[in-house]
Amino acid sequence: MDLSTNYMGLKLASPIIAGSSGFTSSVEKVKALADNGAGAVVLKSIFEEEIHYEYADFIKEFKEIPGAPPFFEHNGQLSPIEYYDYLIREENLKKYISLIQGCKAAVGIPVIASINCFFHSVEWLAYARQIERAGADALELNMFFPPTDFEHSAAEKEALYFTIVEKVTETVKIPVALKISPYFTNLGPMIKRLSNSGVKALVLFNRFFSPDFDIDKLEVKPSFVFSTPAELSMPLRWIAIMANKVDCHLAGSTGVHDATAVIKLLLAGADAVQTASGLYQNGPAHIKTLRDGLEGWMAGKRFRNLADFKGKLSQAHSADPAVFERAQFMRYFGGKKNVTL
Ligand SMILES: Cc1cc2nc3c(=O)[nH]c(=O)nc-3n(C[C@H](O)[C@H](O)[C@H](O)COP(=O)(O)O)c2cc1C
Repeated sequence: MDLSTNYMGLKLASPIIAGSSGFTSSVEKVKALADNGAGAVVLKSIFEEEIHYEYADFIKEFKEIPGAPPFFEHNGQLSPIEYYDYLIREENLKKYISLIQGCKAAVGIPVIASINCFFHSVEWLAYARQIERAGADALELNMFFPPTDFEHSAAEKEALYFTIVEKVTETVKIPVALKISPYFTNLGPMIKRLSNSGVKALVLFNRFFSPDFDIDKLEVKPSFVFSTPAELSMPLRWIAIMANKVDCHLAGSTGVHDATAVIKLLLAGADAVQTASGLYQNGPAHIKTLRDGLEGWMAGKRFRNLADFKGKLSQAHSADPAVFERAQFMRYFGGKKNVTL
């Protein structure tokens, strides 16, 4: 049976990709994923946020040193802060480069590097170039604005996506994918425009950690780290709507916890599928479970390759395209008898 797929111009032996997470942060983990049949891996992102945290800790420490020089003083030299910042970045980048090189040496599947971009567009170009030189087969950009950014308009924020993509795709020759969230003012047209921006794939969607409250301690705590199977509905719907409207490949991400979810995303028109939370819950063998489930289903349906069924239930090919447009329950249940809500 042929599970191969073309994703971003890369030939993957299987459409199931290990998404960017702690499970793709070391050569050993990546090897275990490849051994379990992953079509590709997206490495843990090199994070701007991480750098900021370290930086904040340093400032705190630095302030506590008696007689420490004042911050941001230049005199033609790098200030201590800038120098430390530079060292951290150098160190993080070095580690990342050796992760890419180690993975490339250890596995035969495509290794997709990942950069987590906030908004410092220029800085990432140097990273992208080095990542390409290290031998990454492709680059995934994970771009988002912090939800607390009230300074920029929706139009300004959207424009930045195109600026960053343009700069990165001008800088590197390897294919570039963009992982986005579903939180745009006008999601469909934005996905369509991004598909023409020079990226070879869009990953729908990224998922954010949300805070939870501890009502006994009256504290905010990080929570909802892992997705649930119900969260598949968002990428499923949007891949089905966009599959025949975009000019790049699509990968489904969020809520892929079993083979049924993989099959549904492929039926919606995805070229590949990513899974992250499922790896934490089931280990690297999760990839094999998904793969075996997909193969078993294909065998039962007598499908020999993905082209036999990919996109069969996209909005364009669905027997009931309007089902993707229904936004309110009343339109669905209105005409049904014996339905108690
Ligand atoms: C613990 C953890 C760490 C993650 N780290 C990254 C990361 O470094 N970069 C990134 O782009 N996405 C990261 N993600 C997001 C996943 O790649 C994925 O987009 C998201 O979790 C939705 O997929 P899922 O439902 O399969 O988990 C992380 C997810 C988890 C659960």
